[in-house]
Amino acid sequence: MKHWNTKYPERFNLDSGEDYKRWRDEKLAVYPRSVGELVVELGDMTAITETEKEKIRELVELANMCVYTAGSAELSMESLLALGRQLGVSDTDKARRHSNSDELTNSGILNNAIPFTTRHVRWHTDATYFGSDKTIQALFLLCKRPAVEGGSNKVLDHEIMYILLRDRDPDALGVLMNKNCFKYKNPKTGEIAEHLGGKVFWTNPDGNLCHRFSFRQMDMAWSEDADVKAARAVLESMMLAESGYVIEGRLESGLGLVSNNVLHTREKLVDSEDDAQKRLLFRTRFYDRVNLH
Ligand SMILES: [Fe+2]
Repeated sequence: MKHWNTKYPERFNLDSGEDYKRWRDEKLAVYPRSVGELVVELGDMTAITETEKEKIRELVELANMCVYTAGSAELSMESLLALGRQLGVSDTDKARRHSNSDELTNSGILNNAIPFTTRHVRWHTDATYFGSDKTIQALFLLCKRPAVEGGSNKVLDHEIMYILLRDRDPDALGVLMNKNCFKYKNPKTGEIAEHLGGKVFWTNPDGNLCHRFSFRQMDMAWSEDADVKAARAVLESMMLAESGYVIEGRLESGLGLVSNNVLHTREKLVDSEDDAQKRLLFRTRFYDRVNLH
C-alpha cells in the first residue's frame, strides 16, 4: 500500500501545493494503463483470502477500482453483496429505487431509462441525483452474460480527472469544488429539489475525493452562474477529449468491477433476441466506499 491518504492529506486542498505535487507524480507513475493491470483473480468472490483482499485494496488505492474474477462463486446479486461486505461496504441504496434497477439488462424498465436499453451511455458517475451530502461512493458490477456484441465500458478514476483539471485550469476546479453546481430535477415535472444539490468534486470526512458528474441532462439542473457554466465547459471538454488514462474493457461472464464510483461509459451493444440470453450485469451501489484502513 502507498498510504497516500495519510502521507499526503492535503493533496485535495487547492491552497496547498506540496502534497499535491508529490502525490500527483507518484500517482501518475503507477496508474494502471490497461485492463490487464486492473485484474485480481479471486478463487471465490464470496470468501476472499487476505492476500486477495490486499490486492484489491492496493488497486483501489492506485485507481479507485479493480476488475475481479468471480471464481467458483455463483454469478448472482448475493455474491456481489457478499464481496461488498468483505470489503467494508454494505450500505446500499436499494431501498430507494425500483426493485429491478440493479439488474442491468435490456428490460426497458423506468420508461426505457438508458441503462436498461442497448444504447451508448456517455461519461458519468452513478446516482448524481442523491446530492453531495449523501452520495453514492462505491459502485460494484458483476457480469453474468455479456452482450452478443459490444457493451464494453470505458473507465477513468475521478482522481485522474482531478489531476488533469488542476494542472490545466485550477480556477475551474476551484469552482467545481466550492460552488453548488447542479441540483436534481424531476424529469417528469421539471421540479427542482433544492436539497439534492451540491458540488462536483469535494472531500469526505475521511479525506478522500468524491465526484459526481453526468452528461445526462434530463434529471440535472446545472447552475446558470457564470463561473459554474465556464467550469462545467472545461470539465466537459476534458471528458470528451478522453485522455490516455482512459481504460476500456468488456466484462465477460464471471468478471466484475469494484470501484469507488469512478467515471464510466457504456458502449452501445447488440443483444440476443432470446430473452434468456440477454446481456445481464448485477450492480450494487453503496453510500460507503471501499475501506482502505
Ligand atoms: Fe453507470
